[in-house]
Amino acid sequence: MRNLEMSHTGFRAIEPNILYFGTPVALISSLNEDGETNLAPISSFWTLGWTTMLGLLDETKTADNVRRHPECVVNLPSPEMWEQVERLAPLTGKNPVPELKTKQFHFEKEKFQAAGLTPTGSDLVKPACAKECPVHMEARVLAVHQLRGKRLEQLGGGVAVEVEVVRVHVASYLVLKDRYVDAEKWSPLIYKLSTLFPISGSGAGENVSRGGLGAESKALFNVSSENLLHSHYNFITSAEVPQMIAKFLADPLTNAPAGKAAAS
Ligand SMILES: Cc1cc2nc3c(=O)[nH]c(=O)nc-3n(C[C@H](O)[C@H](O)[C@H](O)COP(=O)(O)O)c2cc1C
Repeated sequence: MRNLEMSHTGFRAIEPNILYFGTPVALISSLNEDGETNLAPISSFWTLGWTTMLGLLDETKTADNVRRHPECVVNLPSPEMWEQVERLAPLTGKNPVPELKTKQFHFEKEKFQAAGLTPTGSDLVKPACAKECPVHMEARVLAVHQLRGKRLEQLGGGVAVEVEVVRVHVASYLVLKDRYVDAEKWSPLIYKLSTLFPISGSGAGENVSRGGLGAESKALFNVSSENLLHSHYNFITSAEVPQMIAKFLADPLTNAPAGKAAAS
């Protein structure tokens, strides 16, 4: 084996105030005790197959709700919805507000109204979908895993909630060939180092986001204002997208030849 270079020349060992290097934002609908829906922004989530893991701080109403009523909706906002996400940022559905959050958060029961969003009925679960989000994924909770780690404990602890998606609603303008989401039209809202960014659009370098979060959420994640640069990111360029879709659709694993049984 090649000798590994032991120095990190050109690097600095630092303690970043946040390790959220860039993930999409979701708005999680969960059921309150009275049957109304709570709505909360998160960005710690990922999916394998139709199983999704949601990273939730213990001291959230959402964590309480999914433990009590094991259903939720994972709503995906579009980049234009950053203002609605910002409006939700300083709110919690937990009353009284947990000690750790009192300086930055206040209680709000009517989250949809506060954000200017519309609750709309789900098909298979009780929590409502957020109509303005182009994607709603109804899900059932399979397990709640306690997470560990000193830094997480300083934030009051957290859980990884394992959910299974049971119904997906996608805005019609994004649906291709009944089964696919148009990657050229869909773009997530990205949470990157405590700032909200779009990743779609044609003008690279163009300043389109004013989505720096308010003092409340910066304080929660202990982020200083130097991080709040606004820029425009293209992870893949628009020109690459049609080729990628064509390759994806031509792949026999994606589109099994007619007559053959579904991929086993
Ligand atoms: C963009 C963004 C991303 C966030 N990501 C998370 C997250 O991944 N997990 C989490 O528990 N809280 C996250 N938060 C903070 C919660 O939204 C916040 O704790 C909120 O009060 C939860 O609402 P609830 O108490 O009504 O559930 C995020 C906030 C914002 C604005």
